[in-house]
Amino acid sequence: MKDLLRTEHLTRDDVELLLDTAAQFAAEPLRSKDALAHKSVAIYMTKPSTRTRLASQTAVAHLGGSPIVLRGDDLQLGRGESIADTARIFSGYCDAIIVRTFAQSDVDELGKFSTIPVINALTDDDHPTQLLADWLTIRETFGKDVSGRKFVYLGDGNNMAQQAIETAQKIAAKSGATIEVTNDPESAAKDASVLYTDVWMSMGDPESEKQEKIKSLAPFAVTDALLSKTSKDSIFMHCLPAHRGEEVMESVIDGPKSVIWREAFHRRTTIQSLLFHLTRGEIKGSL
Ligand code: CP
Ligand code: NVA
Repeated sequence: MKDLLRTEHLTRDDVELLLDTAAQFAAEPLRSKDALAHKSVAIYMTKPSTRTRLASQTAVAHLGGSPIVLRGDDLQLGRGESIADTARIFSGYCDAIIVRTFAQSDVDELGKFSTIPVINALTDDDHPTQLLADWLTIRETFGKDVSGRKFVYLGDGNNMAQQAIETAQKIAAKSGATIEVTNDPESAAKDASVLYTDVWMSMGDPESEKQEKIKSLAPFAVTDALLSKTSKDSIFMHCLPAHRGEEVMESVIDGPKSVIWREAFHRRTTIQSLLFHLTRGEIKGSL
């Protein structure tokens, strides 16, 4: 597989490989310091980013390459040049593209017309590089065998959750996992190993929805009371940025069960791993 456009395109073996290599990059950041020597990676973002942008830039630097950071209005795309033509130009100058934007179809199109790897760094539908960092953090905490463990996502159905349910149901039918969707946060949290949440207003969500969302999602906020229902060894996760006091209470996100800083740290190690393997053509994919 040339690109990472959607999480579901990764096979279990791909994920294992990517996480194993990311763990090595965590221990030894410069272990492949010439892998991208004399190569350039475009990092093109039309939405704000703190973690993904820094993680991408430092990942490229650790592999010996040059990151080229471009904002939405930097390119002729904004003046009507097509994605296909832009993809061809990127392919002539660069060795990979990391892209964050709104429509998933734009990222798919960039992948289709590029000859170099394209990595989805967040769209309205998916955030695959975040999920790799999350899995590595979960694996570090519980080990590789997570069978029998319960993972709970609470809150808004956005690019970190809802879009994946149908696909997850299909994969679960084969893997033996169970996927449940419930409106009862307490029963969801009972004996859970992971409580995960994200902001209730994602980038691009209309402001007009804000008050209604805050009202309807309030019972799904991650509080100490909810956390007390989870298993003894449970962890709290959040992709960040967080709105403390809204989707998660300060005492939880800054408390002993929170692994948010390790999760954020692994954004670099996993993007480094992805760049390393994709540019070497080592990701099999399930396309
Ligand atoms: N988690 C995440 O993608 O953070 P940024 O929006 O800061 O990149
Ligand atoms: N759901 C959030 C994730 C940010 C990393 C957003 O899209 O704004």
